[in-house]
Amino acid sequence: MNTKHILPALLLNAVTLSACAQNIAPKTFKFAERQTKLLLTETEKTKKEVNKPNLLSPRTLGTKGELLIVSPKDWCSGFFAGNLWFLYEYTGDKFWKEQSEPYTAVMELEKTNGGTHDLGFMVYNSVGNAYRLTHEQKYKDDIIQAAKTLVTRFNPTIGCIKSWDHQKQWKFPVIIDNMMNLELLFEATKLTGDSSFYRVAVTHANTTLKNHFRADNSSYHVINYDPETGQVLDKKTAQGFADSSAWARGQAWGLYGYTVCYRETHNRVYLDQAEKIAKYIFSNPQMPADLVPYWDFDAAKLGNQPRDASAAAIAASALYELSIYSKNAKTYKTTADKILNSLANHYQPQPDSARGFLLLHSTGHKPANSEIDVPIIYADYYYLEALLRQKRLADKKPVINAAGILKN
Ligand code: GLY
Repeated sequence: MNTKHILPALLLNAVTLSACAQNIAPKTFKFAERQTKLLLTETEKTKKEVNKPNLLSPRTLGTKGELLIVSPKDWCSGFFAGNLWFLYEYTGDKFWKEQSEPYTAVMELEKTNGGTHDLGFMVYNSVGNAYRLTHEQKYKDDIIQAAKTLVTRFNPTIGCIKSWDHQKQWKFPVIIDNMMNLELLFEATKLTGDSSFYRVAVTHANTTLKNHFRADNSSYHVINYDPETGQVLDKKTAQGFADSSAWARGQAWGLYGYTVCYRETHNRVYLDQAEKIAKYIFSNPQMPADLVPYWDFDAAKLGNQPRDASAAAIAASALYELSIYSKNAKTYKTTADKILNSLANHYQPQPDSARGFLLLHSTGHKPANSEIDVPIIYADYYYLEALLRQKRLADKKPVINAAGILKN
């Protein structure tokens, strides 16, 4: 690691904040258990009210504070099952396994859904965690099938997996979020020995590295490609403030995605990219002192903007992993600890409120005036994942719990 990767602002933070580093997992998981029991009750109640046959998952709260639940086709449908598996992992309590299973079973059916690029979020965060913790054959088969489905969206001329089919103004949009679906492909290669999934993941990561990033290492949200020639047609945004702006969650997806790519390939280019993204995020003058960003780093310059706690939770989880690969380990860990302290102290609802969500103040899609300053299920997911990673580091265990088989 050369000195250009040392993060001056972060190092300053590391010194001033080291006193507050602590393992907050025990207290926070107690809170999470209590809240999630409420969210289970609220979800069951809402399901009866809407009278839909599918088992549906909680996503967010509506403008009147009502619980909004989504079908297994929604990109957010796998996170709740993942949260239940995380609670099982942390507590070892069979109750949580029993709660997880039906929410996971409906996600298994999505393994042949070729209409979305979000199979990583949907299937890997639900079924993938189920497999990691139980090693049941059916979950392994699901992961492999989901990976086979996901690669049908890969265009070899472009070198990317297509993101959206519904945005007809773009021929072949690829969003930075799509980096999060590559972990499913890496896992499928490990499970099968078939390197074709790995090759698609690496090609997608390389193409994204080439076209999504600006000179300052922030990323565009959407790159629109010509599917015939592979040429870049447009560099746009969908959920950010402007085409040229840095949408906060997009930066966090990139940080997490390239950290995973380094884990799976040991290619230093990916480690460098993850560190460059971390530098962009945490040296940004618009980053508030509590390290929970406004929804877009450029919109933040206007003042009076909502935060995005989900971006903070995703970044915290990524930084714990990045810390085990980098010479800047202490800085990254201290920064992640600070984020978790901020979230725990200022972003959690009072117990037994917010219908059982764990974090307030996320922003889903500001330009569409949707999900602004609300709890959102994926913020909770990455919060729990980050807490588990913090605990494993404290226990001197591998941060990435690849084979945490629980047998009760
Ligand atoms: N498309 C995933 C997100 O909103 O972050």
